[in-house]
Amino acid sequence: MQTVVPNPLREGLVEQRVPEPCSMVIFGASGDLTKRKLLPALYSLYRDRLLPHAFSVVGFARRALPAFTAEMRAGCDQFARRRPVDEAVWSSFADGISYIDGAFDDLAAYLRLKEHLAMLDRARGTIGNRVFYLSTPPSYYPLILQKLGEAGMISDGTRPFTRVIIEKPFGRDLESARALNRTAAAVLREDQTYRIDHYLGKETVQNIFVLRFANALFEPLWNSKYIDHVQLTVAEAIGVEGRGGYFEEAGIVRDMVQNHMFQFLTLMAMEPPNAFEANAVRDEKTKILRALRPYRREDVATHVVRGQYTPGSALGQRKIGYRDEKGVAAGSRTETYVAMKLHIDNWRWSGVPFYLRAGKALPKRVTEIAIQFKAPPPLFFGATGRTVVEPNVLSIRIQPDEGISLKFASKVPGQSMEVLPVAMEFRYGSSFGAEPPEAYERLILDCMLGDSTLYTRGDEAEASWRWIDRIFEGWTESNAEVAEYPFGSWGPEAADALLARDGRAWRRP
Ligand code: BG6
Repeated sequence: MQTVVPNPLREGLVEQRVPEPCSMVIFGASGDLTKRKLLPALYSLYRDRLLPHAFSVVGFARRALPAFTAEMRAGCDQFARRRPVDEAVWSSFADGISYIDGAFDDLAAYLRLKEHLAMLDRARGTIGNRVFYLSTPPSYYPLILQKLGEAGMISDGTRPFTRVIIEKPFGRDLESARALNRTAAAVLREDQTYRIDHYLGKETVQNIFVLRFANALFEPLWNSKYIDHVQLTVAEAIGVEGRGGYFEEAGIVRDMVQNHMFQFLTLMAMEPPNAFEANAVRDEKTKILRALRPYRREDVATHVVRGQYTPGSALGQRKIGYRDEKGVAAGSRTETYVAMKLHIDNWRWSGVPFYLRAGKALPKRVTEIAIQFKAPPPLFFGATGRTVVEPNVLSIRIQPDEGISLKFASKVPGQSMEVLPVAMEFRYGSSFGAEPPEAYERLILDCMLGDSTLYTRGDEAEASWRWIDRIFEGWTESNAEVAEYPFGSWGPEAADALLARDGRAWRRP
């Protein structure tokens, strides 16, 4: 059951959902994510009165952290959405924070945690409901899931509830994702398993649904009859910044494409779901992943470009190359950039290429989906002859400068029939004023409410890995080149050539 209270920010307009009392345990709470994202998100929810009236958060990690609450406060001071942190709000929120250290393989530590949670139930009224958040290095996920089961900490009913949020990466290939799904299924039902991808928590990503399915204007054009091609870009202006050790194991395909990019690709491409409900939405997303045309071994070389940044500069400062980063092997072949062309083999998208690129150390931070429509037939105006017009482009700016822009042709004022592109712009900032919640706020709240619409389902994760695995197989077999690009450039030349071969070019957002 959930209580419905008016939203204090938009009184009278919207009703907010407040979850049942619960405790949340963060495994791996000494890590960066807890301090940068999770605690600031919980603090903001608390401040907006969206957390249950009885709530507690327990950090659990291997090392002793006597100053856990103070560290979390420092995290909120630095990263909370609205700063400065409100002293009165913080003080009552902080009453619910505690920390327990223990080894992830030590059953006794889980039993201590269980006892602690039972104490919190009595003291704070959290009534046995639990959200466990796995934010440790992924190799511990199976162990923690098993131990939670062994310690009898997973309720199989719905009241009280136990839900487990599993941070990305969910596996590193199809086989490991399957194994993790099996381990999770041994202790949890699918509706208790919340595979998080923070891109789904972004307002702009959710707005793809609304743009497509709450407007009569776009959907009739959303198909191969009118769309020439689609470009998806995730550009980051920073390098790996101290995460070299992690990145060596991951690479940009595992870090960004398999999860984040595939999330907005599937939302952009899916058929309308029967309902805005977890399984209906995820069925449609999964169908898209299953319709991705698998690369044959020889396709990988012609359809996928991998790159790695070398020393360069950004904003006038010298920047080191990837191989000079801490934790990176001198001869590393890990990709920090990837560009690829793919096809979705279904009726809607037959013949429409999708071009994806993701990279670190590019000239600017920008995430966008650009839908380029087919060019209209040539225009013949007056004596000037043929007028070439640029095709319409609908671009959805996921971040920053969140918004949507539609480029169309307009007559230049004057005596001649000159045509130039102009844009219609929507900007979140100017239209709504208020700053949107952080992705983690929305997702944590949804989990507490038992809504997994914005979480990845097990078969969906497997379907994306099944397709992605082919890329790694292709690279291993062909020993494909890792093209270099200087820090601060738009990626390797081979990525431009990938589109040039089709008579197209990347946008420069
Ligand atoms: C994370 C990746 O999942 O997403 C990082 O591991 C990446 O490498 C980050 O920088 C990007 O997230 P955002 O929200 O800043 O776009």
